[in-house]
Amino acid sequence: MALAIQTEHLRKVYPGSTSANAALEDLTLSVPSGRVFGVIGRNGAGKTTFVRIAATQLALTSGSAQVLGHDVATEERAIRARIACVPQESRPLYFLNVEEVVYLYLKLRGTDPVEARSRTRDALDQLSLTEFRRRSVARLSGGLRRRVLCAMVLASDAEILFLDEPTTGLDPIARREVWEAIRRAIREHRTILLTTHYLDEAEALSTRLALFERGVLVLEGSPEDLRSRVRYPYRVTIQGAYPREELDSFGRVTPIEGGYLVFARDAESRELARLALERGLRVSLGPVSLEDIFLDVVGKSIEEETPHPEVEA
Ligand SMILES: Nc1ncnc2c1ncn2[C@@H]1O[C@H](COP(=O)(O)OP(=O)(O)OP(=O)(O)O)[C@@H](O)[C@H]1O
Ligand SMILES: [Mg+2]
Repeated sequence: MALAIQTEHLRKVYPGSTSANAALEDLTLSVPSGRVFGVIGRNGAGKTTFVRIAATQLALTSGSAQVLGHDVATEERAIRARIACVPQESRPLYFLNVEEVVYLYLKLRGTDPVEARSRTRDALDQLSLTEFRRRSVARLSGGLRRRVLCAMVLASDAEILFLDEPTTGLDPIARREVWEAIRRAIREHRTILLTTHYLDEAEALSTRLALFERGVLVLEGSPEDLRSRVRYPYRVTIQGAYPREELDSFGRVTPIEGGYLVFARDAESRELARLALERGLRVSLGPVSLEDIFLDVVGKSIEEETPHPEVEA
């Protein structure tokens, strides 16, 4: 499959940072075209750094990155015409109204005026911004401004859309409208690089996912790949009084309100569910969520980095 983005041993150390604190370390990653590629990770993991390097807004320190077959370090002009970006923090131009800001953005990208008008209308309609189209951007709420930025980028004809936390601060309805717009962009065979802290969103939209932790790629693959790589791919919740001491042999146990959550392997999860049902307890059994995987992988990495008190003493 054609690749939209490809990096090899990519490294980024911001000026003033020590080399031990690289924002990205030895990142080798391929993003296939025509799909949503989700990048997740804790605050400071390196997601925005990756987006900004691929979108040619930030220079890399070493290694290489190619976007649509062009090198980010030497061919940024060829890349810029074919990408569009919703940055993590930004504001659309304040003195324009909503319709003007989207239309002008498309015009500046070189879209023909008639086409730009119709694309603007469609994007405003899709993100429920039509009623605000004559309102000055300066007078919009924060979430509406974010929606205007999404509308600009989604209305463009860019082949790769970089969406760095596009739905942060959006209400649940607006979030889902952005999801629909993303799905529509995929039907138009475009590539989306999405970062998000909403793991349900990452899971619902992404064909492949990358989990960054402290600048390092720790997990990459389809949601099914990720699930198959964790120790316990199933979750069993039990509501009611199951003897705690009998649970540990099935997997990793977490007490929850009114019962237990047990992460387990396939056979153990089914066995436990059967035993709990025999006791007349309420049981649910299913594959782990992306959030479970995140907490498992990132939680372990935090434990490893945190010195034990007895070691410190
Ligand atoms: N302009 C900068 N100068 C120096 N260090 C920076 C700069 N921007 C980011 N960093 C550092 O680089 C690392 C990665 O930051 P980055 O913004 O890429 O993380 P992120 O995964 O996008 O986090 P978040 O989820 O909070 O948006 C962090 O340690 C951050 O402090
Ligand atoms: Mg970020």
